[in-house]
Amino acid sequence: MYRAGKQEIDAIARVIRSGKLFRYNKNGDGECQRFERRYARRLGVKHVLQTSSGTTALTAALAGLGIGPGNEVIVPACTYMATAVAVLAAGAIPVIVDVDASITLDPLALERAIGPRTRAVIPVHMWGLPCDMRAIMRVARRHKLLVIEDACQAVGGAYRGKMLGTIGDAGAFSFNFYKNMTCGEGGAVVTNQARAAQRAACMIDCCAFYWKGRKSSVVPFISNGSRASELEGAMMNAQLDRIDGIVRELRRQRQRILDATRDCGLTPIPLHSPGDDCGTHAVYQLPSADQADAFAKAVGGTVVGKTGRHVYTEWDPIFRKQGAHCAALNPFRLPQNRGCRMTYRKTMCPRSLDILNRTVMIALHPDRKAKDVAALIRKILQAAANIL
Ligand SMILES: Cc1ncc(COP(=O)(O)O)c(C=O)c1O
Repeated sequence: MYRAGKQEIDAIARVIRSGKLFRYNKNGDGECQRFERRYARRLGVKHVLQTSSGTTALTAALAGLGIGPGNEVIVPACTYMATAVAVLAAGAIPVIVDVDASITLDPLALERAIGPRTRAVIPVHMWGLPCDMRAIMRVARRHKLLVIEDACQAVGGAYRGKMLGTIGDAGAFSFNFYKNMTCGEGGAVVTNQARAAQRAACMIDCCAFYWKGRKSSVVPFISNGSRASELEGAMMNAQLDRIDGIVRELRRQRQRILDATRDCGLTPIPLHSPGDDCGTHAVYQLPSADQADAFAKAVGGTVVGKTGRHVYTEWDPIFRKQGAHCAALNPFRLPQNRGCRMTYRKTMCPRSLDILNRTVMIALHPDRKAKDVAALIRKILQAAANIL
């Protein structure tokens, strides 16, 4: 969480005083509906559906687009496990593919990995860094793949002037505690496709979809509930007023750090859309993993490959093929998925492991004082002089 205060407290208090915490008690003027309208306008997208988390947003996006058993979905070797989890929750099989030096999905590796069962790809804008969407969209068009952007870590970011999450067929955002906008826990699915939006709405709240949407052309189906509450909607409305200021300050700080460390021998990570990303981190690539370890220790940064949860080697439930709570529903065992590729080895993406273990990110905060940024810059310069 970056910023929250009086506006959020007042917004939540208003909802509690009104006694109307359920999102359907309203005639189009509830907090969730207002957030969905405002966020859609800000993103320039037709449909926004608020959910309970980024994971349920991703699952609703996949199911909304009709992805399920029999389909493979390509995911990058560097992401939170929830990306692959959502693919399994939709009944499909995740195929893990290398990232490149940008620590986002490598478009060449994506194209090489496409097989007869591949139906979709999930580019993940990790740590607010946009993927190479132009190249990824080209590959997707050539091979008729659906594109679901995982923008859970990229709220407020853009790529070549287009908001992240709106470039592919659908996008998913997380509003959990660690994200650029937060209501503690939450998420949203976005899409321009009416049918996908209807199906996603059914995934998010199938009972309400059934009671309210009987005239819909989408036949209601059964799903888990992941409806957002008015408390979350109220907090998101307050957060939406803050996001521009947060991202502006993060980008400004990051630029100041990159400018000041330009000539010290450090290599900043290549950016696909410089100036458009969220600027949540200053990221450098070191020549060796040992140097990356030493640099991270000296500057208070984190080696991307060693966060303990963002590299495919740490996704044990997937390696163990524990794809559901019971065998009959486990996508790894479904007859429809028999032709899908599902052999995972910890050594299968050595290039990603090499890159991620040499990449160090330094987290920024929009409320960091100028003198603290200056101190951080001094630390980075000193560490570079000692280590390179
Ligand atoms: C890249 C990515 N995808 C998906 C998720 C899942 O979001 P949530 O925790 O809101 O379910 C996260 C959460 O951290 C994430 O970082």
